[in-house]
Amino acid sequence: MLYDAYAKPLLFRLDAERAHEEVAGLMALLSAIPGGAAALNALTGATTIGLEKDVFGVRFPNPIGLAAGFDKDGRLVPILPALGFGFLEIGSVTLEPQPGNPKPRLFRVPESRALVNRMGFNSEGARAVARRLASQETSSVPLGINLGLNKGVEAAKAPADYARAFRILAAHGDYFVVNVSSPNTPGLRDLQKVKDLAAILEAVQEANAARKPILLKLAPDLADDDFAAAIETAGKLAQGLVVSNTTISRDGVDEKWRGEAGGLSGAPLKARATELIRRARALTKLPIVGVGGVETADDARERLAAGADLVQLYTGLVYGGPTLVKEILRGLAA
Ligand SMILES: Cc1cc2nc3c(=O)[nH]c(=O)nc-3n(C[C@H](O)[C@H](O)[C@H](O)COP(=O)(O)O)c2cc1C
Repeated sequence: MLYDAYAKPLLFRLDAERAHEEVAGLMALLSAIPGGAAALNALTGATTIGLEKDVFGVRFPNPIGLAAGFDKDGRLVPILPALGFGFLEIGSVTLEPQPGNPKPRLFRVPESRALVNRMGFNSEGARAVARRLASQETSSVPLGINLGLNKGVEAAKAPADYARAFRILAAHGDYFVVNVSSPNTPGLRDLQKVKDLAAILEAVQEANAARKPILLKLAPDLADDDFAAAIETAGKLAQGLVVSNTTISRDGVDEKWRGEAGGLSGAPLKARATELIRRARALTKLPIVGVGGVETADDARERLAAGADLVQLYTGLVYGGPTLVKEILRGLAA
């Protein structure tokens, strides 16, 4: 395949974040050329039909979406559907702009088909992202907007900040995700505790006059009781779950990664993410977006069988390349 033979070796010679920027830059360029998206769409293969589904009141052309973190500021919304995605999730977007952690902050673990990242919510901020979404071509597939929290915001202020970011972006997304599960913002994951979580979801729902679906994204590292309690809270105050974010565990990668702070994604997360989908499905009827280690049609099918309504991927794209989504769709349709 062209990606494996040419693009991947070149990209993998670059620092991981730099490679991401090159790919994003190329896609932005293509997106600006008339017919660019159509050309990319043709290059990545045939599109499948017959995989449409309705979830939380939104019509999805297919169940394979892009996970949060690939397009944090929504720059690639017009072009990403050309890769075959049935939906996109941009972000995390924070209320105020912030630079994220110092670089390097994104690492490949090729032998495990994994990534370790401690980006720390680099974000242009809600206002700039809303402006971009209003001014550029809208997405041809449903658009999710994932909301994060600025570094250093205390728990008591979190509900107001999530609600403000939501209000600024509300008109531009088909669904929203409250992300309290990134391992790279100190204290953030503590907000998965019922009291804080309920306050955040209540504040966002209070701002939600348009009744957009609000999803909760959970960490894979929660204790069983905390996972169940968070899902119970979501059952009262949210319209869906995203299971799951990256893990702080280093199972499945070399010892040396224990010393590198950040969240682990990709193949090592596979089994854990599926198990959590299954557990969440046993606890709730809420729609579930299953994410973590999806690289093949079989992986996607396994998530759907475990109880996911939709599936997302990010790391698989780095190792599988631009034809991956369509390969998965063809496998699902077969
Ligand atoms: C570089 C990178 C940045 C990410 N940034 C975010 C983010 O800003 N918000 C979020 O909710 N998840 C973020 N994620 C997590 C992904 O959305 C996803 O939950 C996780 O990577 C597992 O899926 P995967 O194995 O297919 O990558 C990020 C992941 C990576 C690799």
